[in-house]
Amino acid sequence: MSSRPASKPRESVRVCFVCLGNICRSPTAESVFRDQVEAAGLGDRIGVASAGTAAYHVGDPPDARSAAAAARRGLLVQGAARHFVKADFEDFDYVLAMDAENQADLEALAPSREALSRIRLLRSFDEGEEPAGDLDVPDPYYGGDAGFERVLDICEQACRALLAEVIRDRGLRDA
Ligand code: 4NP
Repeated sequence: MSSRPASKPRESVRVCFVCLGNICRSPTAESVFRDQVEAAGLGDRIGVASAGTAAYHVGDPPDARSAAAAARRGLLVQGAARHFVKADFEDFDYVLAMDAENQADLEALAPSREALSRIRLLRSFDEGEEPAGDLDVPDPYYGGDAGFERVLDICEQACRALLAEVIRDRGLRDA
């Protein structure tokens, strides 16, 4: 029998959530989505990551307020902030902006029309309750605890809709 390196195979779909600092909204969305992906039995098929359009928090842990709000729902928000760079477009099938400014910054960075087509607003998957035109996940950084709860509520709902679309688009079977 031939021996092969025991490297982990690449997931068939890779998703990256992107906000400004990668310490509040996108690590929260990453944690919420990963939890839903694992609950669907798709943890080895869908890879999940997050990054920021700005570099000023690179290496920092998630904001303690995000981690605490998520922990109250049994979710772990962890890791170190990363900067989203042009080369990341080679790695991700879905690049999900948390607000319109993040989306515009990502669009300016996209190396091709095809890369551009992979950028979506997270809430575009779930336009349910919001008035037309406001699909931002509001930045909670300068506000109080309620903002962090709201980010979680929005992420839980939008990520459910995102997962349903990824499963459908990619022909993944919900295990
Ligand atoms: P995030 O929140 O983009 O959701 O990670 C922010 C984090 C840091 C800053 C702004 C928003 N900041 O100005 O440092």
